[in-house]
Amino acid sequence: MQRDNSYYPRTRSRRLRKNSKIRKLISENRLEVSDLIWPIFICEGDNVREPISSMEGVYRLSIDNLLKDAQYAHSLGISCVALFPSINANLKTMDCKEAINPDNLINTATKVLKNKCPELLIMLDVALDPFNASGHDGLFDGNRILNDETVDMLAQQAIIQARSGADILGPSDMMDGSVGKIRDTLENEGFFETLIMAYSAKYASSLYAPFRDALKAKSKLVGDKKTYQMDLSNSDEAMRNTYRDLNEGADMVMVKPGAPYLDICYRIKTTFGVPTFSYQVSGEYSMIMGAIKNGWLDEDTAIFESLMCFKRAGCDGILTYFAPKAAVLLSK
Ligand code: PBG
Repeated sequence: MQRDNSYYPRTRSRRLRKNSKIRKLISENRLEVSDLIWPIFICEGDNVREPISSMEGVYRLSIDNLLKDAQYAHSLGISCVALFPSINANLKTMDCKEAINPDNLINTATKVLKNKCPELLIMLDVALDPFNASGHDGLFDGNRILNDETVDMLAQQAIIQARSGADILGPSDMMDGSVGKIRDTLENEGFFETLIMAYSAKYASSLYAPFRDALKAKSKLVGDKKTYQMDLSNSDEAMRNTYRDLNEGADMVMVKPGAPYLDICYRIKTTFGVPTFSYQVSGEYSMIMGAIKNGWLDEDTAIFESLMCFKRAGCDGILTYFAPKAAVLLSK
């Protein structure tokens, strides 16, 4: 075979792969523990650590155990946790009034954790689904999800969460106008420093199923969320939503789910140049963890690869249930 001497062997790509020192020297992206946000499920009770069957290794924690695990995460260098409440069925109603109870599970957990570990950032979801008898993120009249009525309630929920000590609010409701209304309300109430990470590109995905198990919201869901979450065949629409949320006062934006939507992450980051996050959601976690548990994938390398791809796509940070495991492997 004739060699094409115009490039080979003068250009041997393998020279740059010769050993780990050289590979590291030229590596284009780094995954660091400071990139990670850890989502945690909380529940009522004392000393509860209840396994979630569809999420191997993830638990519903009572507040006392939340304190232990959050402090452990902090000691590993994780700087932010995102809390999600799994509340008792009798508190889930059609008017979702538990969402605006200042002493509900999530607000209590936030106050207690902030008091115990003030340096740890706390992110809270702004949405009604944990409190909704219909399982939806907005108020449901039996027929439609009511946009403007929901937005009014989300603004109240957000203020109460900010008062409880939340550093970052994540409106995940996908109602129109929620980011602007929440921002205005925060400003009016003097919460000038509360950050908003808008779920600007949140798709109606099959990959949220284990999360809905974790919140005990799966069997409750009436219909689907397609009238408010995005159609997964769209990409331009994600740009429009992101543009809108930034104009309405979002500090950071998020794409969700994660790895199957890296094209969206890349487009948002290159178009807007704003802090861009991705949520490696419950279904992605369960797929990877399921394969690890079966011995089909190697734990450390599979987790690392599943997270590094977000950095390559331009994300600044990642919400991931692997956060503590990833923090440990990154310190090795
Ligand atoms: C709901 C919410 C969902 C997730 C985060 N916030 C589920 C949904 O929209 O039905 C999913 C996260 C995950 O799957 O890990 N507001």
